[in-house]
Amino acid sequence: MNRFSVTTSRPYDILIGEGIIGDSGKFIRECIKPCRACIVTDSNVNHLYLEGVLQSLRDNGFQTSKIVFPEGEHSKNLPTYSNILESLAEEGLSRSDLIVALGGGVVGDLSGFAAATYLRGIKYIQIPTTFLAAVDSSVGGKTAVNLNYGKNLAGAFWQPSMVICDYKTFDTLPQEEILNGVAEAVKSAMIMEQGLIDHIQAQDYEYVIERCVSIKKSIVEADERDTGMRQLLNFGHTVGHSLEKLSSYNISHGAGVATGMVVESRAAYKMGLTEYDASGYLTEILEGFGFDLSIPYTLEQIYKYALNDKKIKDDSIAMVIPEALGKCRLHRISLEDLQEFLRLGLE
Ligand code: NAD
Ligand code: GLY
Repeated sequence: MNRFSVTTSRPYDILIGEGIIGDSGKFIRECIKPCRACIVTDSNVNHLYLEGVLQSLRDNGFQTSKIVFPEGEHSKNLPTYSNILESLAEEGLSRSDLIVALGGGVVGDLSGFAAATYLRGIKYIQIPTTFLAAVDSSVGGKTAVNLNYGKNLAGAFWQPSMVICDYKTFDTLPQEEILNGVAEAVKSAMIMEQGLIDHIQAQDYEYVIERCVSIKKSIVEADERDTGMRQLLNFGHTVGHSLEKLSSYNISHGAGVATGMVVESRAAYKMGLTEYDASGYLTEILEGFGFDLSIPYTLEQIYKYALNDKKIKDDSIAMVIPEALGKCRLHRISLEDLQEFLRLGLE
C-alpha cells in the first residue's frame, strides 16, 4: 500500500492499495476517533462493498448507519441531496460525527456536498470504487450536485479527511465504467504527463492511479479553489458537460470528456491558439480504447448548454489549450468567440 499526503486547507492522506477496503475502519481511526459514521452509497455498491466497510468500522469502535440512493448520474440532484441531509438529521449525526462516501464520483460528489453543508460542515471520508473516482473525483474536495440548467451548478470546496482507494474493487466494474476512468486519466496525461498513456493502455491501475493522484495533488495544492491552474483539469469538460446534459446523462461523464477533448483540441488549433493539433492523436488513442466519439447534437444545442458552464466569469470562459502532448495552457475566450470556437471544433 502507498500513501500520499495532500497539503490543502485541511491536510489529508490518500491510501492506495489492493484489497485494503476491509481495513477501512482501522485506517479511518488514524485520523478520526470513534464516533457515529454514516456510510452513503448507491444501490449497486450497497450489494458489493457496504457490509465489509460497515463491519470494519464497527470492529474499530464506530457506531454505524447507512444511506443508500439509486445508482447513476440521475441521482446527482437536489432531491437526493435533500434526502441525504434529512436522513443525517434523523440519525442525529452531530458535528463530531462522520460521513463515509462509498462509491463512484456520484456518491463522492453528493456525500461531499452533504458533508460540506450539514451542520455547516462535518468530516467525510472518500472510498472510491470506480476507476474514475480513484484517478480524479475522490481527490481535491470539489463537491456538487447538478441543477436543471446544467452540471455541478451547486456545490462547495470541502476536502475529505482521508481517501482510501482499493483498486481490487474494479474487479466488479463493467468495462464501460473502466472507460470512464480512462478518459480522465488520458486528460491527466495530456495536461501533464504524456508517458502515462502507455501505462493506461497496459491497464497498470496501480501506477496510473498513483500518477493521476500525484498530478492532481500538485495542482490542488497550488490552487485549491480553482482560480488558476486547477482549471487545466477541465480539459474537454465544457463540451463534455454539454453532451452529458443534452443526452439527459445517457452519455456518461467519461464519454463526454473524451469527445470534449477532441473537439476542444481541434477548435484551439483551427482558431490559431496553438500550433499543435492534438485532435488526431486523441481520436486515435480514444477510439483505440473503445470510445464512440460521434456527436449527435448541433452546434446551437452544444453552445446553449456551454453558456451555463460554471467556469464562465466576466463574459469569458477559460479553455484548456494543448501545446504539446503532456503540456497545456489556459486561454480565456469571450462568450462572443465561444460559438465560433465550438463551430471549428465540431467541423
Ligand atoms: P458513478 O458514481 O455513477 O459510478 C458509475 C457506476 O458504477 C454506477 O452505476 C455505480 O453504481 C457503479 N459502481 C461503482 N463502483 C462499482 C464497483 N466497484 N463495481 C461495480 N459497479 C460499481 O460514476 P463515476 O464515473 O464514478 O463518476 C462520475 C461523476 O463524477 C460525475 O458526476 C462527474 O461529474 C463526477 N466527477 C467529479 C469530479 C470531482 O473532482 N469532484 C471529478 C471528475 C468527475
Ligand atoms: N475534476 C476537476 C477538478 O477537480 O478540479
